[in-house]
Amino acid sequence: MVKVDDVVAGYIKDVDILNGISLHADTKEIVCLLGPNGCGKSTLLKTIAGYLRTRRGSVSINGTDVSAVPVHEKIRSCGLGFVPQTENIFAAMSVLENLLMGGYYMSGEAREKRIAELCDLYPVLKRKLNAPAASMSGGERQILALARALMPSPRILLLDEPSAGLSPKVLHEVFDAIMQVREQEGVTIIMVEQNAIEAMRISDRAYILSLGTVALTGTCSDLLHDPKVRELYLGGRTD
Ligand SMILES: Nc1ncnc2c1ncn2[C@@H]1O[C@H](COP(=O)(O)OP(=O)(O)OP(=O)(O)O)[C@@H](O)[C@H]1O
Ligand SMILES: [Mg+2]
Repeated sequence: MVKVDDVVAGYIKDVDILNGISLHADTKEIVCLLGPNGCGKSTLLKTIAGYLRTRRGSVSINGTDVSAVPVHEKIRSCGLGFVPQTENIFAAMSVLENLLMGGYYMSGEAREKRIAELCDLYPVLKRKLNAPAASMSGGERQILALARALMPSPRILLLDEPSAGLSPKVLHEVFDAIMQVREQEGVTIIMVEQNAIEAMRISDRAYILSLGTVALTGTCSDLLHDPKVRELYLGGRTD
């Protein structure tokens, strides 16, 4: 379980971007973080991951305060996986090399086995294993970024806009891949998304952020059926 308790964080001295955010994600839950550009979604994921230090409050995993644990240590020892919003693959490397990088801390044998598993889960990776990652389409790149983070079999996955720039069909393929991760590997997922309605359809709960705070939270079924939420946060869509 991931718990964020009253977190304040920011990049520049005396300028706070997160202003006392609290949230949690239970084991095997998919939780999505929504909100306008610049409201602090990526900053929140970076703070949970450990790229940014908390100025107040805490981040805990399974009851242990990990606020001061740096990102590489969280990936290595706390079962955390992180797919950033941009530059989430090594374009100059092959698909195989990207996966090997994802399993940097693993033994050779475990890496081979895991690559085979992920290739079975996502056949596009098998087909393109020796191709340069730069030659992949947007959707394929997102699958590769996901698979790279999955190499060490994380228990918690932070995904920053996995559907950015994808057409509706490919968006659904990527979302299917995310659901498969939860079903087959039992991973807890915290996902930032701009495609709010589609994201809520595959998530259990959502947090809608505004200016570094949580403006609204609830189960996705409740939020999706709330006319006020649709009007204020989802552009009035009714489908
Ligand atoms: N590296 C940085 N240094 C200084 N300020 C930053 C940095 N990254 C983000 N910010 C600022 O923090 C605020 C929140 O940015 P953040 O990237 O968290 O927003 P976001 O909700 O993810 O937006 P988007 O939907 O556009 O990705 C913005 O005002 C942004 O300018
Ligand atoms: Mg962002």
